Amino acid sequence: MQDNIQQQLVHEFVTRFGNKDSLDLFFAPGRVNLIGEHTDYNGGNVFPCALNIGTYALVAPRMDNIVRGYSINFPEQGVIEFNLNELVNNPQHNWLNYPKGVVQVLQEYGYPLLHGLDIVFYGTIPNGAGLSSSASIEVLMATIIKHYGNYSHLDGVTISRYCQQAENQFIGVNCGIMDQFAIAMGKTAHAILLDCNTLNYQYAPLELGENILVIANTNKKRGLADSKYNERRAECDHALSELQSKLAIKSLCELDLAALEANQHLVTNPIEYRRIYHAISENQRTLKAVAALQQNDLVTFGQLMNQSHISLRDDYAVTGKELDSLVANAWQHPACIGSRMTGAGFGGCTVSLVRQELVADFIHSVRAGYLNDTGLEADFYIVNVGNGAAFLGAIR
Ligand code: GLA
Repeated sequence: MQDNIQQQLVHEFVTRFGNKDSLDLFFAPGRVNLIGEHTDYNGGNVFPCALNIGTYALVAPRMDNIVRGYSINFPEQGVIEFNLNELVNNPQHNWLNYPKGVVQVLQEYGYPLLHGLDIVFYGTIPNGAGLSSSASIEVLMATIIKHYGNYSHLDGVTISRYCQQAENQFIGVNCGIMDQFAIAMGKTAHAILLDCNTLNYQYAPLELGENILVIANTNKKRGLADSKYNERRAECDHALSELQSKLAIKSLCELDLAALEANQHLVTNPIEYRRIYHAISENQRTLKAVAALQQNDLVTFGQLMNQSHISLRDDYAVTGKELDSLVANAWQHPACIGSRMTGAGFGGCTVSLVRQELVADFIHSVRAGYLNDTGLEADFYIVNVGNGAAFLGAIR
């Protein structure tokens, strides 16, 4: 962690909440998904990794039941507070509803926060860019509750399930498990192959040779992203219910493409058929991509990333002109091994696998092409794959 981040956190803490003898520092990463998009809530596989950018929290316990939060990212919101006896979503509590929802769900499962807290948050992930700033603050809060409650047996998989539930029920976004899982369970230099049906997972070493991951942010406001996300889920669920009239399946990704095609007649809406065609083909691509990576075949891995984008663009319809422009400009560059949108879509970020020696030229050229296509400035991040959420230590 950079010293200046720590200094800034301490400075803000003292300014907002006064001096304390000891402060506790926590971190939860953001995540990038390499492949396996919109498969998690369809019972399929995903292949995300945790990033070395994320959300920090500097925390001191209080003697009462009040949780006070200040975010360096939202200074205009000032200090927001809630009472542990009143764990309901309150729009006036703005971003603090995310950690509050986690307090509520953990309490429901027998892991209460036993006292109030003063917390300064600082996120180094751009908000709303599809790198999971919300899941990051959720898992961060669960990590804080675990620490102060001495809930040492509360494992990362369970934390990710509780945080997903908080986002689904408290916030009202019907997300799958991928983001919270990657953030709770991430491991440096590894991606995670997660079967979202069983929650079985394995770490895959991310050996990229001469290549690096470049994340590009469209800087397009995501606007209707949440409602469109819920709409895609509803389309998949409806098509699933039609397939279930004949097939004994619990989720779409239990099917392969051959089985889907043999049962196409059961799906009455052609648009919904394309949606589920994406989910099932993407699930197969994900497994192929992980196998290619394990064989050090990065060319195939990159081609599967490209195919993933095309499927998300044409069948799942979650890309939009900004993401398509970033990806098309990346594909044109000789240093690009593969490029696709990552996360929910509708704006947000792309992830590209790029030859390291040419990365400066790659960024220069994609930036210019994107500006020309859309009139927008993209941001680029060269990230490393980091560990999952953790207590980093006490600052005295
Ligand atoms: C968002 C959700 C995830 C997942 C992705 C799409 O990031 O939070 O659960 O569905 O979109 O793959």
